Amino acid sequence: MKISIIGAGNVGALSAMRIAQYNLGDIFLVDIAKGLARGKSLDLADAQAVLGFDYNIQGSDDISSIKDSDIVVITAGLARKPGMTREELLAKNSQILKDVCVNIKELASQAIVMVVTNPLDLMTYLALKTTGFARNKVLGMGSSLDSSRLANLIARELKLPATSVETMVIGAHGEGMLPLARHTKIKGVSLEEFLSDEKMEGLTKGTIGRGAEIVALLGSGSAFFAPSAAVAQMVKIIAKDEKKIIGACAYLDGEYGIKDICIGVPCRLGRAGIEKIIELDLTDKEKKELMHSADSIRNLLKQLPV
Ligand code: LAC
Repeated sequence: MKISIIGAGNVGALSAMRIAQYNLGDIFLVDIAKGLARGKSLDLADAQAVLGFDYNIQGSDDISSIKDSDIVVITAGLARKPGMTREELLAKNSQILKDVCVNIKELASQAIVMVVTNPLDLMTYLALKTTGFARNKVLGMGSSLDSSRLANLIARELKLPATSVETMVIGAHGEGMLPLARHTKIKGVSLEEFLSDEKMEGLTKGTIGRGAEIVALLGSGSAFFAPSAAVAQMVKIIAKDEKKIIGACAYLDGEYGIKDICIGVPCRLGRAGIEKIIELDLTDKEKKELMHSADSIRNLLKQLPV
């Protein structure tokens, strides 16, 4: 198994480390900044004996090193600055993503492509259109991160371990994300038994604003511990063909009554990428909110260089 990560910034490098710890396959880290990917890959490789990682770790500034990858993770692009929305990155990151995807199409036509670059839903769509790959092979990392953030906030509120919270956030990876209280369970018991609507409303807001909260605190760059954890988890599900259900940004072709955009929904992932899109039973209010979220993505599609 060959796993390439394009972009050796915080998210890319930490994803490489976590993937190494899962011992999934050879790792190729690529970055246009001279020396960056190679330096970080040498550093990571020096930990191989400690981590018990059996595969190769290599870094390069040459994109051709992704040749024949099984999985390509794209983290390349600019991160938000304090006060910015993810959507404000659209123009600059579109160009970067497009260039990267032209290369993936040529060099790794069999790969599953995972997009992490923001604005996530739009960059996933651009990757799908630029590579021309089948829709099961191109997905974005957003919902699983948002779900893990919500699980953390619920766990803190209830003073329980986060691992006892099972939750799902769907919709855009942005202001329009939709945490689903009704589909949240604490050790199998419905969340409504534990939390008032009012409290849940506060946690929902906290989840939506979490990325921006971290950007503001860091002053430069955006979150990377939880994003890289979500990337590695999804890479592991695909690489080991675990067939688990997890939130991912997927191209919809009529599911949830939505067509021709990429948006966060629960998916069953496996070696073929998105093996099934799970259609949750939504209330009218939830459906309306999801449509609203889809509209916010659709409005921005016109700005994409597809
Ligand atoms: C965040 C970035 C990864 O949510 O979008 O922190």
